Amino acid sequence: MALSSSSSLIIIVFLFFNQATTEVLGCYTSIFSFGDSLADTGNRVYYDAHSQYKHFPYGITFFNQSTGRCSNGRLIIDFIAQALGLSFLPSYLGHQNPDFKHGVNFAVAGATALDSASLIKRGIPPTTNYSLEVQLGWFKQLLPSLCSSPSNCRSMLRNALFTVGEIGGNDYNDPLLEGKNKQELQTLVPEVINIISSAITALVEEGAVTLLVPGNFPIGCLSSYLTIFESKNQNDYDPSGCLKWLNEFSQFHNQLLQNELNRLREIYPNTTIIYADYYNLAMDLFRFPKQLGFKGTSGVLAACCGGGGRYNYNTSAICSFEGSTCCDDPSLCVNWDGIHLTEAAYKWIATGILERSFTSCISSEHHNVDHSITLLSSL
Ligand SMILES: *[C@@H]1O[C@H](CO)[C@@H](O)[C@H](O)[C@H]1NC(C)=O
Ligand SMILES: *[C@@H]1O[C@H](CO)[C@@H](O)[C@H](O)[C@H]1NC(C)=O
Ligand SMILES: *[C@@H]1O[C@H](CO)[C@@H](O)[C@H](O)[C@H]1NC(C)=O
Ligand SMILES: *[C@@H]1O[C@H](CO)[C@@H](O)[C@H](O)[C@H]1NC(C)=O
Repeated sequence: MALSSSSSLIIIVFLFFNQATTEVLGCYTSIFSFGDSLADTGNRVYYDAHSQYKHFPYGITFFNQSTGRCSNGRLIIDFIAQALGLSFLPSYLGHQNPDFKHGVNFAVAGATALDSASLIKRGIPPTTNYSLEVQLGWFKQLLPSLCSSPSNCRSMLRNALFTVGEIGGNDYNDPLLEGKNKQELQTLVPEVINIISSAITALVEEGAVTLLVPGNFPIGCLSSYLTIFESKNQNDYDPSGCLKWLNEFSQFHNQLLQNELNRLREIYPNTTIIYADYYNLAMDLFRFPKQLGFKGTSGVLAACCGGGGRYNYNTSAICSFEGSTCCDDPSLCVNWDGIHLTEAAYKWIATGILERSFTSCISSEHHNVDHSITLLSSL
């Protein structure tokens, strides 16, 4: 079967992590997470009474209630926490210090890298005021209460995993929806990368030693963008049916981000800065859906939960609001609500990240190799 034009042997191994947290192998004793809706575990819904994420079917697959996570179940950060033997991260808003022993989540759905003032200056109305810098401020304010002495703090930070992002996606969203073209958008990217870089620098200066920095998703494969930027020109689409110009834009952001991470690694040789390749891990799902167990209901690009249309994304009937419906089996879908992915997709991506970067931290107690799929493409 012609899977790809390369003649490579692609081996994809699924790891399934059980939920037992009986024995912590303990590479990391806590996680501090910054970002947007891809990582938010409850901050947005804490203050936003009108959030769509407050309602079922959000959370339907795993938590059996909406938790503020923008998915049907666990997010990448949840799978990482579980695999490292830690409990789910409490959101910063709505929780108290005693809950933060194993870390805290500052990510807010809708958050941008740029602060509100910079966005307004560019004519972009922010959808939340909790930019990356604000989240960093929360962390700095909280830190003294998490450890009792300077040496105690140093050791706590040394043993913590910091996840910085994904962030930046929302900085591009609004201008895109306002019809700004790709060239205009590209001028934003260095600014976004600069802010991410400053946040990493600030964290390292505070004592962070291990940082995981995700890139952006292939947004040209997301149901929302596919709907809004639908084109009559077949040349605008790649073989998976994704919009090429949007994916190229994500790759541009990711390339600049990786260049910057390389620069930071040279400045801080004693830190471990890991790039989490959300783009390519998600692309696997769009390229090889059947092989990876994703059938979808009307193709892999359509959202599970939505209000109809070719990609089941309808801005007049977004997931959880009137007029939207949820597919029967979200575990067969990659896309959850048009913008965010399903728990099953996030599990795949988290597994890829853990496999590449954290193998030594995951004890055999914490994962069972359930099955492995070997994709052999011999063209
Ligand atoms: C899920 O929650 C509903 C109430 O919201 C409850 O009736 C049901 O028993 C729960 N199911 C499980 C499996 O916990
Ligand atoms: C952001 O903060 C400003 C000033 O406090 C407020 O007027 C505005 O409504 C806030 N915006 C959002 C989206 O919360
Ligand atoms: C990195 O760690 C080594 C060994 O502990 C130390 O000698 C060196 O000064 C550190 N470098 C920086 C840039 O902090
Ligand atoms: C989108 O949702 C609105 C409101 O529920 C509905 O009237 C319309 O038919 C939907 N569009 C599609 C393409 O399903």
